[in-house]
Amino acid sequence: MRVSINDIRDMKRKGQRIPMITAYDYPTAKLADEAGIPFILVGDSLGQVVLGYESTVRVTMEDMLHHIKAVMRGAQRALVVADMPFMSYQTDIPTAMRNAGRMLQEGGAGAVKLEGGEHMAETVRRIVECGIPVMGHIGLTPQSVHQLGGYKVQGKTLKAAAKLIRDAQALEEAGAFSIVLESVPASLSRIITDKLAIPTIGIGAGLHCDGQVQVLHDMLGIFTDFVPKHAKRYANVAEVFKTAMTQYLKEVQEGAFPTAKESFTMDEAVLAELNAGERRVASD
Ligand code: KIV
Repeated sequence: MRVSINDIRDMKRKGQRIPMITAYDYPTAKLADEAGIPFILVGDSLGQVVLGYESTVRVTMEDMLHHIKAVMRGAQRALVVADMPFMSYQTDIPTAMRNAGRMLQEGGAGAVKLEGGEHMAETVRRIVECGIPVMGHIGLTPQSVHQLGGYKVQGKTLKAAAKLIRDAQALEEAGAFSIVLESVPASLSRIITDKLAIPTIGIGAGLHCDGQVQVLHDMLGIFTDFVPKHAKRYANVAEVFKTAMTQYLKEVQEGAFPTAKESFTMDEAVLAELNAGERRVASD
């Protein structure tokens, strides 16, 4: 049975830490699902790690839907959350509701995630009222990178920390079922996590969040342009890839691939007839 938002909320209640990972396509979603990850995010981080953009700002609804559909084909058990891309929910509430609905209706996702605190609370409330589960995202909100002036840790001053606490509480009151805390001091995430009944999922927010999320391409070492401080490399897939490609290149160039093992045979009699026919054509 697929993991539900109630299961995710229950994990906090039972003191179970919640692992979440991003996935963007069929094979990565299938592997994460088979590994037992209960919570998958189709993050708009795909703009950077899959599509090669500088930021998430250029990701569109169509980009997201394309990837969400692939993830849904791969993940049979995990709860899949679809990121709402930049400008798909900020302009007005009816647009936000329509686009959130598309994520479930067309994409097949189980929930949506959007960035912003108090100022997004009414939008969250209205989307939840439509029956669409919403995950909040506060702290460093990458879609506002131009406004924030870069990818900086948030909530370091008294005023900023108090604002983040208010943001988290406003999202919970609006009906969000969980909240991502990104690039927030660990001690502040602890305060926020203790104040909320819904789970906090941290990325660069320390150990005291109820769960953790990592960008798949960072943790597997597939994305090599830079490694964010909050990312831990659990594998070096880029190195494995490079070794395999170099070997393949060499074997094709040297005629060592394919061997008989990777080739197909045909009936000898058919081949003899074919060769005889070829000889006749050549002699005509
Ligand atoms: O897009 C994404 O991958 C995210 C995570 C960093 C939380 O929003």
